[in-house]
Amino acid sequence: MKRRVRAGIAGAGFIGAVHIEALRRLGYVDVAALADVSGAREKADALGVPRGYADYREMLDKEHLDVLHICTPNDTHLAVGSDALEHGVHILCEKPMTKTLAEAEALARLAREKGLLGGMNFMYRFYPNVMEMRDMVQGGEAGRIYTVHGSYLQDWLYYDTDYSWRLDSAQSGQSRAFADIGSHWIDMVEWITGQRVTEVLADFETFHKTRKKPLGKAETFSNKPQGPGGYEEVDIDTEDYAAVLFRFSGGAHGSCVISQVYGGRKNQAIVSVGGSQCALHWDSEEVNTLWIGKRESANRSLVRDPALLHPNAAAIAAYPGGHAEGFGDAVKQNFSAFYQNVLSGGALEPLYATLEDGMREMRICEKIIESARGDRWVTL
Ligand SMILES: NC(=O)c1ccc[n+]([C@@H]2O[C@H](COP(=O)([O-])OP(=O)(O)OC[C@H]3O[C@@H](n4cnc5c(N)ncnc54)[C@H](O)[C@@H]3O)[C@@H](O)[C@H]2O)c1
Repeated sequence: MKRRVRAGIAGAGFIGAVHIEALRRLGYVDVAALADVSGAREKADALGVPRGYADYREMLDKEHLDVLHICTPNDTHLAVGSDALEHGVHILCEKPMTKTLAEAEALARLAREKGLLGGMNFMYRFYPNVMEMRDMVQGGEAGRIYTVHGSYLQDWLYYDTDYSWRLDSAQSGQSRAFADIGSHWIDMVEWITGQRVTEVLADFETFHKTRKKPLGKAETFSNKPQGPGGYEEVDIDTEDYAAVLFRFSGGAHGSCVISQVYGGRKNQAIVSVGGSQCALHWDSEEVNTLWIGKRESANRSLVRDPALLHPNAAAIAAYPGGHAEGFGDAVKQNFSAFYQNVLSGGALEPLYATLEDGMREMRICEKIIESARGDRWVTL
């Protein structure tokens, strides 16, 4: 039988609860405790977690964790992650890795010095049809890759009355839309193609230059009108929209549109790969289907089915064909890859995004910000 692993969660908001559920589905991880600056005990009770701490440092001192999951706002990731590493605890960090590239470098360096593992929750890699695209592209079936394009669209910040900590650059960082969701898109594209971004040209826009920040608490991803407590008008200095052109190391050219103010799209990521042998198109709102486009024959729609997928993709498709798998399943598969490496003492070749990958995404993001501000191509 596998050894059991003890996990703790820092930050039990939207994604913290997702982490807890996904960890339980692995079967060999005990979620020993959570920490949250707001209502830790109540959150622990509601999620069936034995103990809730107001201060994650007390949790680290008392709980003898193997892994800490960092699910707090971006500006806290460096401190929370560093404290965990100093306690000899592996870390599984939410994206973006930190608020700045310098912070990401410091966190990755500390993990290396301590000889501890660090994983990122770039879970898009673990949708079976995304892995299938990777298997096909890297196995040569798509031929030479000419283009990669796509988008990541949301509407939860559509109105100027929508508010969250993500709109405060002091908490979220200098980029918002790209760092928050474009980071998933570019990690997925580099993962699928095996090509590295070498140059970027970006156009940013902030459509709501001011927003109505509620004086009471604002919920992330809430499309309800904010509470009755009144609001203050605040200036917004991060982008609602980013369009980016990319040049890749293997000669591919790419482009994406990232928006958090696109009506009706709740959370839609699209990746389209144009190769010399076929085209591949995946849409997270049609998560179980992969479109394969050909010129000389009829196009195909591959419905996710482990019996039909390439080996790496089949390995992460947990259910038979026709039984839909989605967001929670991709998170579970990402954690499974990370925890298997924890159990092997770091002996496995990681398929999950490492802290080095998280740092790389931060570097791409900083170059995109530089490009948008300077209105010019920037080389990585
Ligand atoms: N991988 C994904 O698809 C995905 C999805 C959503 C969020 N995220 C990332 O996860 C992180 C959290 O986002 P969220 O949407 O869950 O936010 P959220 O606001 O819903 O939850 C954050 C929680 O952290 C708590 N918190 C704040 N500071 C803390 C501290 N110092 N110590 C302990 N708890 C603290 C808050 O009280 C809150 O409960 C962000 O970095 C975000 O980018 C990733």
